[in-house]
Amino acid sequence: MLNFNFKNPTNIHFGVGKIAAISQEIPLNARVLVVYGGGSIKGNGVYQQVSDALAKHTWFEFSGIEPNPTYKTLMRAQEIIKSENIDYLLAVGGGSVVDGAKFIAAAALYEGNGESDNAVNDPWDILAKQQAVTKALPMGAVLTLPATGSESNGNSVVTRDGNKLPFSSPSVRPLFAVLDPSVTLSLSDRQISNGVVDAFIHIIEQYLTYSVNGKVQDRFSEGLLQTLIEEGPKALSPATKNDLEVRANIMWSATMALNGLIGAGVPQDWSTHMIGHELTGAFGIDHARTLSIVLPAVMKVRRTQKHEKLLQYATRVWQISEGDENERIEKAINLTEAFFEKMQVPTRLSHVDLGSDDIDLLIERLQQHGMTTLGEKGDITLEISREILTQAL
Ligand code: NZQ
Ligand code: ZN
Repeated sequence: MLNFNFKNPTNIHFGVGKIAAISQEIPLNARVLVVYGGGSIKGNGVYQQVSDALAKHTWFEFSGIEPNPTYKTLMRAQEIIKSENIDYLLAVGGGSVVDGAKFIAAAALYEGNGESDNAVNDPWDILAKQQAVTKALPMGAVLTLPATGSESNGNSVVTRDGNKLPFSSPSVRPLFAVLDPSVTLSLSDRQISNGVVDAFIHIIEQYLTYSVNGKVQDRFSEGLLQTLIEEGPKALSPATKNDLEVRANIMWSATMALNGLIGAGVPQDWSTHMIGHELTGAFGIDHARTLSIVLPAVMKVRRTQKHEKLLQYATRVWQISEGDENERIEKAINLTEAFFEKMQVPTRLSHVDLGSDDIDLLIERLQQHGMTTLGEKGDITLEISREILTQAL
């Protein structure tokens, strides 16, 4: 196992009715900005529950954070933060809203890169130049879409002019998160699928690398993968989709997939995500749907490098015991694709109307964004990314 530090201070309130807990979590003297997306929270009663819980607080709102939140929209929030002296953020929504609130929180206290000749200290540098975020407004989250793990991690992804870039800082980790599985009942099938597949691939990015004998991390990961394989399709099936137990298991799996626990002390890949971000940035494809296209290709192209873990994945996650090693790996990759198909997400570039002519642009963007040494060993060069995208055709 590798050395690691692990600290996850996000206080989780899990269960039906738990939105009420925000009244205790946020100090009464705080000036709160509630940030949300396109309005789904107004249709499913979440907004009402939040306003009830904040009845004794002083609060304002900022809406319109779009899926794959943009720099432009997020910077607009700075006006109300200044004019109303906001000192606490509450994100109410999916990963985009939580990520967006993190950027807003960091931008509000951003002092620039310290260069005195830099007249404009643009918070975009947090992403473009990876300027460290050392302070941010405190924030909490009410999660409405289980997928990203953003509700209890320090990551955020923001888009500007087709450039979709991540940043990470412990300063933007939510202080608390409310996970009420009943609020996910209003999700469309598309968003349910996206969430399950995104969480599944977060686990894979931290598991399918090379072995460092991290037995706890491996077995936690395998359990989470099996939970999503079992419960994901149930959330799409008319007979079981409204079962709160199904929703609860998916919701907790998605949080556990990316709250730092399973990734501590083990190598991590993230090449599928970095290539996927370019697909979203360039062509607007939903985050999870980029991943379901790229991951099977990564498994095939990196089969030799990931041999040992692919075999473990085949044996422990898919319980494949027959055939030689190559046949077992082949079967596990096929079953992964079949799972994605069952979850109704694309597994090829052609499924989203992209072809070989589109690969040059994606490679160009990867280069522009410095994504030239991806993977757990930093050996996925641009040539190998091209091979992966070609494999995904
Ligand atoms: O905007 P509203 O009206 O709320 O509608 C949203 C949005 O249209 C809707 N929705 C959310 N909860 C709902 C609901 N509709 C009905 N009922 C509910 N309960 O769903 C749509 C998609 O929401 P979005 O927040 O974009 O989805 P998701 O949670 O999948 O977040 C995706 C974003 O997170 C980033 C992605 O890159 C993408 O920008 N990621 C963040 C990560 C992190 N912070 O650790 C890691 C991930 O790998 C990912 O990159
Ligand atoms: Zn993801």
